[in-house]
Amino acid sequence: SDTLTILGLESSCDDTGAAVVRAGPGGAPEILSSVVRGQTTLHSAFGGVVPEIAARAHAERLDLCVEEALRRAGLGLSDMDAIAVTAGPGLIGGVLSGVMCAKGLAAATGKPLVGVNHLAGHALTPRLTDGLDFPYLILLASGGHCQFLAVRGVDDFTRLGGTIDDAPGEAFDKTAKLLALPQPGGPAVEAEAEKGDGKRFAFPRPLMDRPGCDMSFSGLKTALLRARDSLIAEQGGITVQDRADLCASFQAAVRDVLAGKARRAISAAPEGLSALAVAGGVAANRSIRAALQEVADEAALPFVAPPLSLCTDNAAMIAWAGLERFRAGQQDDMTLAARPRWPL
Ligand code: KG4
Ligand code: ZN
Repeated sequence: SDTLTILGLESSCDDTGAAVVRAGPGGAPEILSSVVRGQTTLHSAFGGVVPEIAARAHAERLDLCVEEALRRAGLGLSDMDAIAVTAGPGLIGGVLSGVMCAKGLAAATGKPLVGVNHLAGHALTPRLTDGLDFPYLILLASGGHCQFLAVRGVDDFTRLGGTIDDAPGEAFDKTAKLLALPQPGGPAVEAEAEKGDGKRFAFPRPLMDRPGCDMSFSGLKTALLRARDSLIAEQGGITVQDRADLCASFQAAVRDVLAGKARRAISAAPEGLSALAVAGGVAANRSIRAALQEVADEAALPFVAPPLSLCTDNAAMIAWAGLERFRAGQQDDMTLAARPRWPL
């Protein structure tokens, strides 16, 4: 039949995932199961993801995640039409664990193997959730990625610009650290920002004076550090209101850069865009979402933000991207390599 059922594996950063996605020739695709196991507690003592710890945890957990995903879907390996796996970019140990696990499953069952680019997984998610038609524009904004992509086809992405240094999520995390707020920093900084004045500190809007869609977020952190330290020098410390104002001003700067560059990306993108979409953990931020919604409205484009569980790292997006590749006649063989770097 023309219905495809794909098992997807994800292990490129600090989330281990397995998922089963099914799609028929017509009708909406269905996520039959999606299992994600985070590793935050394993890494929390180290102030960041430790690659060796991540790789070992993925290796230990992948099989269990696969079992769980199949069990929740009520299916067996023999019901799969192909095995999809993130083959990069990411931390090489984790990517290798996933690729080896997928190769083992493919070899044991004789099922086709489909390697997926992790960024393509994020970028194709709006087709899984909202059935978007090509071409559309997507902003990937997370702790590790930040780029505008024009998505023209399953394997046809044009990068219109991206960060030249930190990702915005990373900037939120560093800001939280500087202000003694908990990690991950995004939600904590957003909660503070809601109580603060975003106009109190005039933080820079980096690269807004330059053409193109490139962005920079590392200078913002420096500006925030200076503002914090001058408050400490003047007052001997920062008040609760100072902290809220610092967060609000920081968030306003990130929001303005993302929205301003989104406006530019729309004009640089191909004609006939079907939507402006977002993915990545930063897309959870209500103020950033609202600003992007406004940019989409101005351009008379629908604004598509998949549910958060599908915006952050997960295996359903890998199963889906694998399904799209497989349906387009693309697959890999046992020479599939794990790639730490793999630009779209
Ligand atoms: O996509 P994600 O779960 O993982 C990757 O980085 O791949 O994104 C996590 C990032 C973290 O840096 C986190 O601080 C940020 O997304 N984030 C947010 C919010 N929620 C999560 N940033 C801003 N506002 C939020 N509400
Ligand atoms: Zn990701």
